[in-house]
Amino acid sequence: MRTPYLCGNWKMNKTVAEAVEFITQLKTKLSGIDFKKIDVGVGAPFTCLSKLIDAAKGTGVKIGAQNCFWEEKGAFTGEISPLMLKDIGCDFVIIGHSERRQYFGETNETINKKINALLKVGLPIIVCVGETLPEREAGKAESVVKDHLTGSLRGLTAEQLNHLVIAYEPVWAIGTGKTATPAQAQEIHAYTRKVLRELYNDNVAQAMRIQYGGSMNAANVKELMNCPDVDGGLIGGASLKADDFEKLIKF
Ligand code: PGA
Repeated sequence: MRTPYLCGNWKMNKTVAEAVEFITQLKTKLSGIDFKKIDVGVGAPFTCLSKLIDAAKGTGVKIGAQNCFWEEKGAFTGEISPLMLKDIGCDFVIIGHSERRQYFGETNETINKKINALLKVGLPIIVCVGETLPEREAGKAESVVKDHLTGSLRGLTAEQLNHLVIAYEPVWAIGTGKTATPAQAQEIHAYTRKVLRELYNDNVAQAMRIQYGGSMNAANVKELMNCPDVDGGLIGGASLKADDFEKLIKF
């Protein structure tokens, strides 16, 4: 049985005060949630993390970063290392988001290096994969997802995959209000599991949690979560307000 995992991705939003206010509001809405049956997380900007981690203590909500560098320390101006995130009590890190591929030159190779660096310090990882609209229209959705999976996971052992969650995020659905239909999501989620079976084995494929991301909201969460291979969501816009996020958590 895979535990559902709903995770916010705030992207470049929220001051420290706004982040703490969010968690304060969310805290009062979480009574009745059994955190043995669902995982809830928020991927926040680096600047919020420390205060947010303190504010979230005892709530059951995991607090994560949205990126990191692959080296432990050194002359890498502007970068943040896995060790630094571990040091402040970060619970997980989102790696390889399509916006990082699109705007910051992230590739399968850099994603793979970051995954390895995070595994070294024992931080759980959400790895993003997904095709663009031209790729989908050219019938390449599956081959792109396979390439992202194969390249990002290269060299990882089956045991290491226990520390990973995969987020399937069709780029054409991110922030566009254009959600993949449950059938479209299910198709690629099932395919992702098939690729994991080929690359590893059936246990790995069955155990892996695969989140859907791309305009997930209170209105579509239920039908997406009803798909047999959709195990959660990576939620951008609809995770910014505690009220909206609550509805998603309580799908
Ligand atoms: P969205 O973003 O929910 O705003 O589409 C999802 C994501 O990019 O993780």
